[in-house]
Amino acid sequence: ESSTEVDVSAIEPGQAIKAVFRKQPLFVRRLTEKEIAEANAVSVSSLRDPQTLAERTKEGHQDLLVTMGVCTHLGCVPLGAAEGENKGEFGGYFCPCHGSHYDTAARIRKGPAPTNLEVPEYEFTSDTVIRVG
Ligand code: FES
Repeated sequence: ESSTEVDVSAIEPGQAIKAVFRKQPLFVRRLTEKEIAEANAVSVSSLRDPQTLAERTKEGHQDLLVTMGVCTHLGCVPLGAAEGENKGEFGGYFCPCHGSHYDTAARIRKGPAPTNLEVPEYEFTSDTVIRVG
């Protein structure tokens, strides 16, 4: 069993980094105030995979969104983590393989993916470092 440590201190609001966890892509994204507000404005019961942003982040760190970078449809790597990439119609991530759109909480909003991008098990080991797995 392996875990991955990620220093999140340099990730500015609106930026994301790609890391690797158990040989799969991992996205770590610092949400802007606007992105947080957009995520929290959604009627959760209307979602295909109903989860709040608070349920998908850690208490006191609602701006740090940690997800696998693996589309839940057929496993492509969505776009949106790198600067200038297409974030899709809901401002989060976009999977170009078959057109799945994820919102700013990485929840599936449109397209064939059945579930939200997976949030792996992780914890903060300090204010600036997370340990995934
Ligand atoms: Fe992402 Fe099909 S693998 S939409």
